[in-house]
This record gives sequence, C-alpha cells and structure tokens, in this order.
Amino acid sequence: MIPTPDLSHLTQTDFVHVYEPAEDTFLLLDALEQEADELKKHPPLICLEIGSGSGCVSAFLGTILGPSVAIHLSTDINQHASSCTLATGRQNKIIIDPVTCSLAQPLLTRLTRSVDILLFNPPYVPTDTEEASIAQGGGGIAGAWAGGASGMEITDRFLKDVDGLLSDRGKLYLVALKQNDVSGICSRMLTEFNLQSKIVIQRRAGREHLFIIRFSRPNRCS
Ligand SMILES: C[S@@+](CC[C@H](N)C(=O)[O-])C[C@H]1O[C@@H](n2cnc3c(N)ncnc32)[C@H](O)[C@@H]1O
Repeated sequence: MIPTPDLSHLTQTDFVHVYEPAEDTFLLLDALEQEADELKKHPPLICLEIGSGSGCVSAFLGTILGPSVAIHLSTDINQHASSCTLATGRQNKIIIDPVTCSLAQPLLTRLTRSVDILLFNPPYVPTDTEEASIAQGGGGIAGAWAGGASGMEITDRFLKDVDGLLSDRGKLYLVALKQNDVSGICSRMLTEFNLQSKIVIQRRAGREHLFIIRFSRPNRCS
C-alpha cells in the first residue's frame, strides 16, 4: 500500500484558503494506486496536475513513480494552493513546480502533445454560472467546488485543451460526479477528439457518486 502523502506541515489556517483533501481526492489516489504497476511499466516524463490544491495528489503520484523519474508540474488559480503544493512536494521529497494560473493556459504551447499524466479533480458542484465565475475570478476556496451549470463549466473549458496536451501515450485522470453526465463526457471526448475512456473506479460518498475516468488515445491502454 502506498502511503498517503504527509500533510502535517499544513495547518487549519491553510485549509481555510485551500481545499482540504476529501473523498474525491482519496478516490483519485485510489485510482492511481490501482494503476501503479502500469504507470511504472512505462514511466512518464511529464506529469501535470490542474487544480493541485494542497498538492496531495501530485505528491502521491511522485511517490508511486519514485523521486526524479518525472517532472511534476501543477497549476491552480489559488495562489495559496500553489504555496501549499510547493510545500507538500518538499515535505514528501517530490519536486513539484506549481504555476498560479487558470487551467494550463500559459503552458499550452510549451507542453503541446507532451504530457504523459494529466490529472484534474475539478470544481464539479453544480452552481449557477455567476457563482462559478465569481469563484474563478476570486482565486479563493469557492473556486474549489463552484462548477457552474451541471458542474461542468470549468471542466468543459479544460476538456478542450486535453487533446493538445496529451502525448501519444498520455493519460488523463479526471474526477467527475454522476450529475456531470459521465457517459456524455466520455462520448463527447470520443467524438470530438478520438480519446477513449474507461471508468477506473467509482464510489458513493455521502450524497455524491464519484467517478475517476481515464482518457487515452486509442490502443494505448487496456
Ligand atoms: C476539488 S479541488 C481539488 C484539489 C486537489 N487536487 C485535491 O484533489 O484535493 C479543485 C481545485 O481546482 C482549483 N481550480 C479551480 N478552477 C481552476 C482553474 N480554472 N484552473 C486551475 N485550478 C483551478 C481550485 O482552486 C482547487 O484547488
């Protein structure tokens, strides 16, 4: 069993500003652990986590792969999250380079078709559009959950960038909620970008039914 990253350096004050790992985070860790042998068999060179929050997920991926195997990049709209991610990397001996920005915006050109592992646990809670756009502009804790219509406004923006980011053997692990319309997301990604999908794991957590969907190019994954 791969240990959950050490977050003892983060305080309750940090978690006033930054998303504290919860069921969705842990489901993503479980999915990565389930895929660990496959991930290690073809070690990734570039990993990118969008919306890294505390840095827990990138640190966990770094632990699976082992130190110095891959470059770990992350983004978040929340400046405080970027600081926590950097600190969590250091605490767990994984070098993570966080960038404070929206989605992968400033990295899109440099990382064209070169990301081997792409991760996003997005703000997926359905809210009205105005709430989501205020949260996105504010760069605070509300940006961790406010997802706009169907909880998909931020995820939909991100999904348009995925084909341009993934390398030939690249994989995206995306967290989604049942209300986000998981089968609709999968069929759109196939139709628009020829990216195939697989539900790696799903779990009910209180009122939420959470999924981890893996996307890849055809014939790259089982
Ligand atoms: C549900 S939290 C997940 C945090 C962490 N990855 C985890 O699993 O615990 C969503 C994260 O996405 C960030 N976020 C929201 N909108 C974003 C955007 N447009 N670009 C980058 N990060 C964003 C939030 O600030 C928050 O840290």
